Amino acid sequence: MAPQISPSILSADFARLSEEVGRIADAADWVHVDVMDNHFVPNLTLGLPVVEALLKHSPLPLDCHLMIEDPDRWAPEYAEAGAQSVTIHAEAAKAPVRTLRAIRAAGARAGLGINPGTPVEGYADILGEIDMLLIMTVEPGFGGQKFLDVVLPKVRRARELIKGRDLPVWLQVDGGVSAETIERCAEAGADVFVAGSAVYGADDPAEAVRKLRGQAEE
Ligand code: DX5
Ligand code: ZN
Repeated sequence: MAPQISPSILSADFARLSEEVGRIADAADWVHVDVMDNHFVPNLTLGLPVVEALLKHSPLPLDCHLMIEDPDRWAPEYAEAGAQSVTIHAEAAKAPVRTLRAIRAAGARAGLGINPGTPVEGYADILGEIDMLLIMTVEPGFGGQKFLDVVLPKVRRARELIKGRDLPVWLQVDGGVSAETIERCAEAGADVFVAGSAVYGADDPAEAVRKLRGQAEE
């Protein structure tokens, strides 16, 4: 699949979310929305009411990344609200297969996220239940952290697992993805790239997205 770019609004101005989405609308494929509950991660961002509001204004589909303790309870609601991709964390879900199926049943793409220390092999058997595997390339919770190179072998192994099973699963990387690191991620097999500070920290976020895409395509 051609690379896709999903800028994270975590690094945008939260008081002007629809304008901030507008700045990347012509360049990006998705808008990555980081939902944090101060339990699964030590940070608090936004929840369903803000996502519902943003859905009315965003010309791009929303890629909701749920860093919350009880994704089984909440994930289907994001899908029902109209988010086109909903990712739950493997470390938090108590019934991941049931929840992934509920996301799909509500019409969204179902994503499964794993933290840097979580092996991908434990999820090989349920790859058929997911539309996207999200591999965190920083510990989740904050934007602007340094990319963890140690995770790249896992991205490679995940790509092999997906290929070996001939599944249409997208492979997303999230955390520290920038002009300096995106080529390594693409080379390892990632095809969906989340970038927060590298996009919204730039003077021209749309141009930053185009540059990242160009690098990922090389
Ligand atoms: C971190 C979030 C990321 C974050 C990435 O826990 O999941 O989506 O916004 O930010 P950068 O690209 O600045 O590392
Ligand atoms: Zn994220």
